Amino acid sequence: MSRDNGGRWRLIRRVIAAVATLFAGALLAIACGKKGDKVGASAEPEQAGSVRPIHDATFVGSASCASCHAEEAAEWHGSDHDLAMQPADAETVLGDFDDVTFTHFGIESKFWKKGDAFFVTTPNGDGVPTDYKIDYTFGHYPLQQYLNFPRGVTRL
Ligand code: HEC
Repeated sequence: MSRDNGGRWRLIRRVIAAVATLFAGALLAIACGKKGDKVGASAEPEQAGSVRPIHDATFVGSASCASCHAEEAAEWHGSDHDLAMQPADAETVLGDFDDVTFTHFGIESKFWKKGDAFFVTTPNGDGVPTDYKIDYTFGHYPLQQYLNFPRGVTRL
């Protein structure tokens, strides 16, 4: 009889242990599930909140960077990147615009000056020789190209 009782208690203890394990597992699963839901639920609004329009961004110019990045500004000044795009004037234009004419692939172009301004006369889209004022230099050395911005259209 006592042997039977002992066996029964062992069985009951095992059942209690198993139920406890299951219960703990279930609690853990619920806790993790809740935690997961929380992360999922809070992640979305945060993400949406971090996307802000940059409509108020404006061009501030290189001088505004130099106050904090003095060393970088000094290295940049006069470098190829500094000289990459400049307003065309007597200092920045390196090409020969002294009434120089040359023919390339059968197209004749003339480089000339008028006062402080630089011009290229070359055929337009219809083949008619046209005067284009140089607005910006593009590049420095060994190759410099010239930009012209007539009515918002860019020509290189
Ligand atoms: C008010 C001071 C301040 C101004 C003005 C400023 N910066 Fe910075 N910038 C910093 C600081 C501080 C860092 C971080 C430096 C670090 O982490 O070592 C930084 C980092 C940078 C970096 C990253 C450098 C790297 O190694 O990852 C770049 C690029 C940069 N700035 C560009 C600019 C430009 C371009 C401007 C001007 C439009 C500018 N900064 C204006 C203070 C400034």
